[in-house]
Amino acid sequence: MRDGKLTPRMDFHLTHEHELIRESSRRFAQEEILPGLRERDAKAEPDPEFLKKLAKAGLTGVSIPAKYGGMDTDYISLGIVCEELERVDTSARVAMSVHSGLHCLTLLQWGTNDQKERLLTPLANGDKIGAFGLTEPNAGSDAMNLSTRARRDGDFYVLNGEKTWISLSDYADYFLVIAALEGSDKKAHVALIVDRNSDGFSSRPIKGKLGVRAGNTGQIFFDNVRVPTENRLGEDGDGFKVAMSALDHGRYTVASGAIGIITACLDACVPYARDRKVSGEEIGRKQLIQQMIANMAAGRDMGRLLYYQVGWMKNAGLRHTREVSMAKWQNCNFAFAAANDAIEIHGAYGYCDEFPVERYFRNSRGAMIYEGTREIHTLVQAEYAMGYREDRPLKHMLPKWPFGEDA
Ligand code: CAA
Repeated sequence: MRDGKLTPRMDFHLTHEHELIRESSRRFAQEEILPGLRERDAKAEPDPEFLKKLAKAGLTGVSIPAKYGGMDTDYISLGIVCEELERVDTSARVAMSVHSGLHCLTLLQWGTNDQKERLLTPLANGDKIGAFGLTEPNAGSDAMNLSTRARRDGDFYVLNGEKTWISLSDYADYFLVIAALEGSDKKAHVALIVDRNSDGFSSRPIKGKLGVRAGNTGQIFFDNVRVPTENRLGEDGDGFKVAMSALDHGRYTVASGAIGIITACLDACVPYARDRKVSGEEIGRKQLIQQMIANMAAGRDMGRLLYYQVGWMKNAGLRHTREVSMAKWQNCNFAFAAANDAIEIHGAYGYCDEFPVERYFRNSRGAMIYEGTREIHTLVQAEYAMGYREDRPLKHMLPKWPFGEDA
């Protein structure tokens, strides 16, 4: 109660600004991603111009304060953009996930004013593209067990090792890399922003992926790469926390993108089921088909609520590690089930690339692995429910929205 009036505690409306960003990112996806997508996916060839187009549309600066060259939009807007991009293609959403989610928001959360001015500004305006390097050949779910090593040498760290399954490995300019600190506790890590132009840095694409074939994924290698200490996020020993913060943001973009896949499945299945006839009746009238369509609609609506809640918590400056894990886990399950059913509804036509649903099926599978497997999220959720795990406020929180002077 304030001034004798009830203060509304819940608001399910999207703002006019949200509607505008949904409309503009939908148009961007239709005009800039869809043309030629089937061929790029078949040939596993990313669009080399895609990141420039993303920057030109201003989307590299979503949810970044205007003082760093960003759009100043709230965090729900980032989810909406991811949803609209993935409604057309997962590869485009993955690029947003690594640039905006894993890299830029983590820099916004952990960076000093100097780091934000120096590094975030060119990222927000799209002059530079960011990516994230945590996973290694022998460290996926066990993210603390890193072999990549950083040794302090005066005002530099000397980095050696390799990272794998890195989205935008061959395109990004800056990589947020998590490494074990040499000569200290086995669990002490450091988070460094590495410029791809550094001596000793190299990358190699991964070929033969099941999905996200129109996107670039690869390995990155560090051979005595010298990184200035001014590019360290947080302190020595904060590296794992920086990585987990980054995943709070990355998982949000994966969760919101998953709703785009479900919507795309409905976009494909509803007209198909109204058109296709069996025994003189459109298959949309068959109850078993209706069951699958209803499940898709339920997944879309429940999943949206889950990710909107996380976006709202980000706006309010609240820790949301549990909620984002739940949203990522469930929404990826909903999306994969929707894509699987979309193939079923299309019958044999769903099994070839004449219709897009086989691509949705392949693309939705990967998200059940990256940014925390469904097994990891299941265990994490059980630990919260059992009271074995709880979220406490962090040393560095993501700035609230609307952004203040301190953002
Ligand atoms: N933000 C900040 N700090 C956090 C945090 C967060 N979200 N979560 C945990 N921390 C802090 C904790 O507070 C704790 O600090 P204190 O010791 O000071 O209290 C510290 O980090 C350790 O946290 P936990 O005890 O929770 O760590 P854990 O060992 O229990 O974590 C795990 C286990 C949750 C399974 C974690 O290892 C995990 O999430 N693994 C999955 C990793 C993953 O998702 N990998 C995918 C990588 S990226 C990718 O897939 C590629 C791509 O997209 C391009």
